[in-house]
Amino acid sequence: MEENKLILAIESSCDETAAAVVRNGREVLSNVISSQIDLHKLYGGVVPEIASRKHIERINQVIEEALEEGEKTLEEMDAIAVTYGPGLVGALLVGVAEAKAIAFATKKPLIGVHHIEGHISANYIENKKLEPPFICLVVSGGHTHLVRVADYGTYEILGKTRDDAAGEAFDKVARAIGLGYPGGPKIDKLSKEGNEKAIPFPKAKVNGSPYDFSFSGLKSAVLNYINSCEMKGEKINEADIAASFQKAVIDVLVEHAMMAVRDFGSDKLAIAGGVASNSGLRTAMEQACVENGIEFYHPSPIFCTDNAAMIGAAAYYEMKKGVLHGWDLNAVPNLKLGER
Ligand code: KG4
Ligand code: ZN
Repeated sequence: MEENKLILAIESSCDETAAAVVRNGREVLSNVISSQIDLHKLYGGVVPEIASRKHIERINQVIEEALEEGEKTLEEMDAIAVTYGPGLVGALLVGVAEAKAIAFATKKPLIGVHHIEGHISANYIENKKLEPPFICLVVSGGHTHLVRVADYGTYEILGKTRDDAAGEAFDKVARAIGLGYPGGPKIDKLSKEGNEKAIPFPKAKVNGSPYDFSFSGLKSAVLNYINSCEMKGEKINEADIAASFQKAVIDVLVEHAMMAVRDFGSDKLAIAGGVASNSGLRTAMEQACVENGIEFYHPSPIFCTDNAAMIGAAAYYEMKKGVLHGWDLNAVPNLKLGER
């Protein structure tokens, strides 16, 4: 008999309140995202207290919409899945408490999902044939991880950032050149009007850890460049800064990813997370993959930034492995990938 597992997934780890209905891990019946960006941009970044309060206000309605759009009832769900870490503790707690309450009331299994595992699993949604093993570069506002996906739910972290996440660097540089929050999409757009060779920003390497990343030096180099222009009374060219900064980030990401696929003899590379929707990164990574005979996978932008469909995709494979959580599930703000 054909399998037909329906999962209601909830995501509230940062500033998006999201719910989705996902069938068999790869078919998204609904994907509702209520973004709080307009509120947080008044403060130049996510304010944790406000995020938690907004999740509380919106979560029930978002779940109801997800069920309606998916044309399913709560009773038809086979499990309730929720992000339980990493993320902002107050924000995570709203989703976790909600998922536990629903699972308890309906007597359904509860599956806690790691947020990064969700980002990686976003690749399964539109690439029906993608299966592990593969290498995945996860680049978001909070994380920069180079991961070997050995099997569903089995991860080996090859490298990660020593300081700022890639998305964080985008957001900070955007703020410095007056673009506002969130900076990634704005730098992406402005870069198209600039010269990526205009300013030679540094491409940081971490001594002794070839797969690790470091973006704080690059961020400081951009800030120093802006300061020195101001001191000399020179007008800065924002588009050139955006393009040159973006190029410096992309070069490092592509180099590291290509090194990992070569070293591990992989023929598949996936990217994930908010920064994976960057048009320059997608083009550069695609080109490098073509040159090296590697299959390249990436989610559509809507599945790159935070959403609950990716949590439903990850939860399906966790459920298949028999990973379920009890009523003691709690938010774990610094949860490590691969930990349960
Ligand atoms: O995955 P995500 O929604 O949240 C986290 O889990 O952190 O990622 C958000 C990050 C932000 O830093 C945002 O600036 C960045 O992803 N981002 C981008 C683009 N779209 C979003 N960065 C570069 N280019 C983009 N097009
Ligand atoms: Zn995320």
